[in-house]
Amino acid sequence: MEETRKSLLDDSFRSAMTLTNSGVPQVPDRYVLPPSQRPALGSSLGTSETTLPVIDLSLLHQPLLRSRVIHEISMACKEFGFFQVINHGIPSSVVKDALDAATQFFDLPVEEKMLLVSANVHEPVRYGTSLNHSTDRVHYWRDFIKHYSHPLSKWINMWPSNPPCYKDKVGKYAEATYVLHKQLIEAISESLGLEKNYLQEEIEEGSQVMAVNCYPACPEPEIALGMPPHSDFSSLTILLQSSQGLQIMDCNKNWVCVPYIEGALIVQLGDQVEVMSNGIYKSVIHRVTVNKDVKRLSFASLHSLPLHKKISPAPKLVNANNTPAYGEFSFNDFLDYISSNDFIQQRFIDTIKKNSS
Ligand code: OGA
Ligand code: NI
Repeated sequence: MEETRKSLLDDSFRSAMTLTNSGVPQVPDRYVLPPSQRPALGSSLGTSETTLPVIDLSLLHQPLLRSRVIHEISMACKEFGFFQVINHGIPSSVVKDALDAATQFFDLPVEEKMLLVSANVHEPVRYGTSLNHSTDRVHYWRDFIKHYSHPLSKWINMWPSNPPCYKDKVGKYAEATYVLHKQLIEAISESLGLEKNYLQEEIEEGSQVMAVNCYPACPEPEIALGMPPHSDFSSLTILLQSSQGLQIMDCNKNWVCVPYIEGALIVQLGDQVEVMSNGIYKSVIHRVTVNKDVKRLSFASLHSLPLHKKISPAPKLVNANNTPAYGEFSFNDFLDYISSNDFIQQRFIDTIKKNSS
């Protein structure tokens, strides 16, 4: 561990925050994307007529309106694998406090953050930059702290001790997000015609990884990205963004900017729901753009089955006409895959697809 840390402190590890704070006029070469992968910031605005779904979740609790909301969720999941939610029940003070704590964390001196640095994706708490600074061929303009978050009492002692408010503020947001995700999974199961409590037991013991991301202002946002195109391994991800920057790929393979809506949270389907639904719903491919002026923060709360629990297509959704289109996988299988493969070259979910005719 000591040795890893020392080698990381030499030139190989430089956070995006360090670069921005040093006032570099250009991004270092390792951040420059090949032309075909650049975000084309101007032209992507051309796709912004697409209206992305926004769902009022408070209506889920009204017996007469629930089925209408479930229908809206089903449409959003089929078309995009994505929607935003308003009136989701998480108080704005909880959201604001969590963002404040994250801001303070990323503003700490780099030596302090390096106490938690690790390139090992199996580590339950780790600070890092890009996706994996030790293996990335192209780097991404992003710093992050990721921590396991459920059950909170099991993990919280390993979270950052600085700033002192971090555990309490981010812990409250993590717990609130966990409650919200249970409601969403129930609604998504219902929208597929499954029992509301289809995955209930697994979810009680399920895992929650909170990725707290920081995308500092970037001198050349047109040739770099904050995160490359990917889908999440999770069943679903609840994302909080402090300003615009997320883009999702629509069914025509166009990049669509996700508008910033004050107070809203973003829901993205991950690979576990794609497999569970036997492909009726698809996980959403998304990426993160950066910008010249504003530091953007996000909390991506990735909810999934327990680390070793395999997910497979729901028996009710499989029949003679719809044979299983995917093999099974667990969160741990995903971690093993990304520690020895370049997931930008090949998406994990493509490795478990069965050959379709
Ligand atoms: C992620 C992610 C999006 C964002 O952490 O997996 O896609 O806007 N984040 O930070
Ligand atoms: Ni993601």
